Amino acid sequence: MKTIAVFTSGGDSPGMNACIRAVVRTAAYYNIQVKGIIGGYQGMIENDFIDLDIKSVANIIQRGGTILKTARSKDFMTIEGQEKALKNLKHQGIEGIVAIGGDGTFKGALEFSKISDIPVVGCPGTIDNDLAGTDFTIGYDTAINTVIEAVDKLRDTAESHNRVFVVEVMGRDAGLIALRSGIASGAEEIFIPETRSDIDNLIKKLAKGRKNKSSKIIMVAEGDEAGGAFKVSNVIKEKLPELDVRVSILGHIQRGGSPTCMDRVNASRMGFAAVEALKEGNNMLMIGIVNMNIAYTPFEKAVKHIEAPHPDLLRMMEILSM
Ligand code: F6P
Repeated sequence: MKTIAVFTSGGDSPGMNACIRAVVRTAAYYNIQVKGIIGGYQGMIENDFIDLDIKSVANIIQRGGTILKTARSKDFMTIEGQEKALKNLKHQGIEGIVAIGGDGTFKGALEFSKISDIPVVGCPGTIDNDLAGTDFTIGYDTAINTVIEAVDKLRDTAESHNRVFVVEVMGRDAGLIALRSGIASGAEEIFIPETRSDIDNLIKKLAKGRKNKSSKIIMVAEGDEAGGAFKVSNVIKEKLPELDVRVSILGHIQRGGSPTCMDRVNASRMGFAAVEALKEGNNMLMIGIVNMNIAYTPFEKAVKHIEAPHPDLLRMMEILSM
C-alpha cells in the first residue's frame, strides 16, 4: 500500500483532528503517503485532495472541528457522483481510505463498495455516540462535558429564581447526550427518543412542588417524541401556570471546542488502529474501543445502534435527583 486517503464527513466532532493526525503519522511510520480529501464525499467528487505530511498535522491535536472540512453530500447519493468519485480516487492513486464520521458516512461507504474496490476503514466521529461497536465515539465526551458546564450555569440562575429550565440538547435519533449529561448535572427529568416520554408523569412530579431543590432541570433530546424544549415548556406552562419556566437550547455549541483528554486519546488510538487495519487488508469495518480495547465492527452492524439505554441508568437518575 503506497497511498491512502483520509476524510471527515457528516457533523464535525471534537477529536476529529486528533484522529487525522494519528492516521497521517501512523501512515508515515509505515512509509505510506496520505492525501486528505477536503469536504468529505463531496471533495472526492470535486477532486479536492491535498497532500498531508507529518508537519501538516502538527499542532492540531487540541483543536476542535476538522482541518479537512466536512459536508453531507447529496451528489454522492447518485451513481454519477460515486462514479466520478471513484475516477478521482483512482487518478490520485488511492489504495485505501480512512473515513472519519458517523452512520451516514459508513452507510455511504457501504453504498460506494458496490462499485468501488478500494478498501475503507472507519473511525467513529460523531458527538451523538450512536454507533454500535464502540463505548464512546470521537467527540461524545467533549460534547457531554460542554453540556454539563452549561447546565451547571443554568442551575445557578434557576436556583436563584426558583425556576424550571427545559434544556434541549443535540441528538436527532439518539438520546445518549441527554442521558449522560442529564445524570451528570442532576437533571430532574430526561426525555430521550429511545424511551417513551411520560409528560403527564412529569407534570405530576412538578405539581408536587419543590422538595430539596427550588430549581428543576428537564433535559430533552432534540429527537424526543414529546417535541423540542419549547413544546415541553408550553405543556408545563399550560398545566402549571404557577411555575416560572424557561427554555435553553444549547445547539451547535455542543459540536465545538477543544477535545477532552479522553477524546484525544481515543481518537489517536482509533486513527492508529485504522491504518494498521487497512495495511492488514481489512475493508468495510469500523474501529471502536470497547472495555478499553480496540474493537472491529463491520459497517453494517455499526450503523444499527438502536439500543435502549440501560433501564438501571434511568431508575438511578430518578432516585438520585430527588
Ligand atoms: O452530528 C450529529 C448531530 O449533532 C445531531 O445530533 C443533530 O441533529 C445534527 O448533528 C445537526 O447537524 P447539522 O445542523 O449540521 O445538520
